[in-house]
Amino acid sequence: MALPSKVKIVEVGPRDGLQNEKTAISAEVKIALIDLLSDAGFVNVEAASFVSPKWVPQMASSVEVMAGIRRRPGTIYSALAPNMQGLEAALAANVDEIVIFGAASEAFSQKNINCSIAESIERFRPVAEAAKRHGKLLRGALSCAFGCPYQGEVSTEAVADVVRRLRDLGCDEIDIADTIGVATANRVRPVMESAIREFPIERLSAHFHDTYGQALANIYASLEVGITIYHSSVAGLGGCPYAKGATGNVATEDVLYLMQGLGIETGVDLNAVVEAGRFISSHLGRPSNSRAGAALAAKLLS
Ligand code: HMG
Ligand code: MG
Repeated sequence: MALPSKVKIVEVGPRDGLQNEKTAISAEVKIALIDLLSDAGFVNVEAASFVSPKWVPQMASSVEVMAGIRRRPGTIYSALAPNMQGLEAALAANVDEIVIFGAASEAFSQKNINCSIAESIERFRPVAEAAKRHGKLLRGALSCAFGCPYQGEVSTEAVADVVRRLRDLGCDEIDIADTIGVATANRVRPVMESAIREFPIERLSAHFHDTYGQALANIYASLEVGITIYHSSVAGLGGCPYAKGATGNVATEDVLYLMQGLGIETGVDLNAVVEAGRFISSHLGRPSNSRAGAALAAKLLS
């Protein structure tokens, strides 16, 4: 099968990326980062998370962040909301897309959101209904679709089962997430196909973390399956507070470089993302985790 000619890149750095940073990052820096990413042309930026600040302190400034960003027409600004408390805050902040987040692994569900998979779906039900009632887009993230830090292997049946439940809640998009970055390319097709049997392929996304350096290979394998939505994080920011050792999302600059080389349209300006990566890396006081980002920055400066 020919590779897709066009893909959508969802920039998740401001949320998935920054949520795991130990040092507090000011709302001003987050706002400036999101504005730079908007200017780079992303049609979807995951900007905030309305979760308990005791569980994820870095996201405590989400109200301020959503109030401070410049809304680029045509860009969807998303935020996580695990329960009605989160949903109400997200609605007040005028988030465009509500993200509910479940897992394909019972053990991870307990650690991440303090309830079983079945309970999480019941908690999401009123969130999903209210999001729809308010005309919001609804996305469902499915963590640990390729493996779990607590229980190890995750079956394709478990993936299909939770995809079906998220679909039945009315999700417009569903993310198949490799939370701990353990997938290898041969695993991509069976997992994605189990999801495709339950949900339209054009609304499924691939969310890879690069812990074992496999993310680009897994993205290529997902392109071969026909997936057209990819999540990535500027400068490779990221991790998950409930997945010890999980490093960042695949770096956006690397994904854009790959897509450019393959002649696949993204609508995103790679050089502008390199600049955004330089901006946030300088605030974090460490080099970018993006190989393409570092190479292009060196070239731009020379
Ligand atoms: P809980 O303790 O079971 O909830 O947490 P609770 O309802 O008993 O509430 C306990 C306290 O939290 C109360 O405060 C609530 O008010 C407060 P207290 O009375 O003790 O002062 N609370 C909230 N505060 C603000 N916003 C809220 C909220 N809800 C309750 N929405 C809960 C359940 C889900 C809230 C908690 O477990 C939580 O916040 N977990 C955070 C999970 C998280 O953010 N994980 C990282 C994101 S997932 C991810 O990164 C994976 C993804 O990228 C895909 C992938 O890679 O796999 C999406
Ligand atoms: Mg993630």
